[in-house]
Amino acid sequence: MASVAVIGGTGMNQWPGLEVKEKLQIDTPYGAPSAPVLLGRVYGIQALFLARHGEGHRIPPHAINYRANLWALRQAGARSVVAIAAVGAIAPWLPPGMVAVPVDLIDYTSDREHTYCDGIHAELQHVEFTEPYSERVRRELLHGALAARIDIAEGGVMGVTQGPRLESAAEIKRLKRDGCDMVGMTGMPEAALARELGIDYASLAVSVNWAAGLGSGDIHGEIHQSIEEGMAKVRALLERALPALRARDEEMGS
Ligand code: HPA
Repeated sequence: MASVAVIGGTGMNQWPGLEVKEKLQIDTPYGAPSAPVLLGRVYGIQALFLARHGEGHRIPPHAINYRANLWALRQAGARSVVAIAAVGAIAPWLPPGMVAVPVDLIDYTSDREHTYCDGIHAELQHVEFTEPYSERVRRELLHGALAARIDIAEGGVMGVTQGPRLESAAEIKRLKRDGCDMVGMTGMPEAALARELGIDYASLAVSVNWAAGLGSGDIHGEIHQSIEEGMAKVRALLERALPALRARDEEMGS
């Protein structure tokens, strides 16, 4: 049984190390997910992987079928989801190459299919979202970082923008005033949909650049320089965290 899933994004569109056993083509009431859900073995456990931007990294953040993605993962058995997200850093303590486990988020996206409660497929429910991320999954990620001796930022608020363009300097100043420590484009509605489905979801944010107006002025250069450093940390951390997550899921009967 594979109860642990990873959603990979920019920088982790594939999962080197995952020994793929099956490519699950899952159709959902919401259409097709970004890619087949991969079921395989990694770090001694069975795990699921979904490439958020599709095979070949072609789907932009605003066009991702988040509803189909989360539905397909649940269909495949996912109980705990770790969502990898490349982010721009707003807080000074999150330099490019650093990894964070955000504790909260602010949604600035618009015009995305953001709920299953659409009056057609599911009844209305007002899910609680005071703590948008699963504390259980966050703890395992933080323990994994400790075990792998990776310096990690414990917390931070993720602002999620519509994209695909990057932000203006004034928009980043506003996000900073709002309390955001980092900015990405894919964290919502992903987190909220996971909550609606009862999936325990947490984000592993990889700082890949200083947000607009805060760095060298060469955002793409910064991304190019730091993304592999950050993703190597993610892989080392997952090696410790995922078997622990799987063990907890098993204790809870998945
Ligand atoms: N802004 C929004 N999303 C991002 C950024 C950014 O600077 N870097 C990586 N994803």
